[in-house]
Amino acid sequence: MQVDQEKLSAYFSDGPDDVSLENIDMTRLPRHVSVIMDGNGRWATARGLNRSEGHKAGIVSLREVITASVRLGIDVLSAYAFSTENWNRPQHEVNILMHLFAKTFVDELPLLKRENVRVVFLGDISALPTKTREVFEYGVEQCKNHTGMVLALAVNYGARAEIARACRLIAEAASRGAIDPSTIDQDTVASKLYTAGLPDPELVIRTSGELRLSNYLLWQVAYAEFYVTDTYWPDFTRWDLLRAIRSFQQRDRRFGGLSKK
Ligand code: FPP
Repeated sequence: MQVDQEKLSAYFSDGPDDVSLENIDMTRLPRHVSVIMDGNGRWATARGLNRSEGHKAGIVSLREVITASVRLGIDVLSAYAFSTENWNRPQHEVNILMHLFAKTFVDELPLLKRENVRVVFLGDISALPTKTREVFEYGVEQCKNHTGMVLALAVNYGARAEIARACRLIAEAASRGAIDPSTIDQDTVASKLYTAGLPDPELVIRTSGELRLSNYLLWQVAYAEFYVTDTYWPDFTRWDLLRAIRSFQQRDRRFGGLSKK
């Protein structure tokens, strides 16, 4: 991905003492960074605020991480915004989130256009409230010819549901005679996932200290490196992203083989 050196240095000037662009090897960036944005509610509660204030603050972090990823030249940034299990939250919170998603998407469309970002959704967005779904579809359409970073937003997403859907699609194709069952392999499955055509995440970041995947991209993270920080998502900044990438670059990735070191 093309990097504008001037914008990159400007965006990462004036940082904290422990991390800077100099710690990053720009030739070994993860192609796909994925974030599990967790801790919005706890961030708000710790400040005596409503949980919805935490989600609003979380949007500011997401905007910063999108911008930072574009500046760095990351190919794909994905973010877990709403899981198939999140419908179990109180109706009031679900309504607030759906409203916030629609509003955020409208508000951020100029940024996505300016930065040449293509947006895809992971998950079944047909089941979302009409307004939210329509805004999402409009945004995807508006950004479909962009050639820069891909932003993949997981909304109404669950990995097991995604894999079951892929099986269903493959079975339907096989019963139509469009696929020979004996040829079904890992690439066939990958091609029926919401992430078809995208590289697998190489770095998965989870905030707020939880050591779980929570039904997120189970197929795609087979060889991803994990980075967990205690920082709540609304406190996560461009510098935390650099810390995560620095940690990723210090790992010895063997993919089941032997160390190259
Ligand atoms: C987790 O915090 C966060 C969420 C459920 C939603 C996060 C969504 C955004 C920041 C915006 C996404 C924007 C678009 C356009 C899709 P939590 O409520 O689980 O926090 P807790 O674990 O402290 O309760």
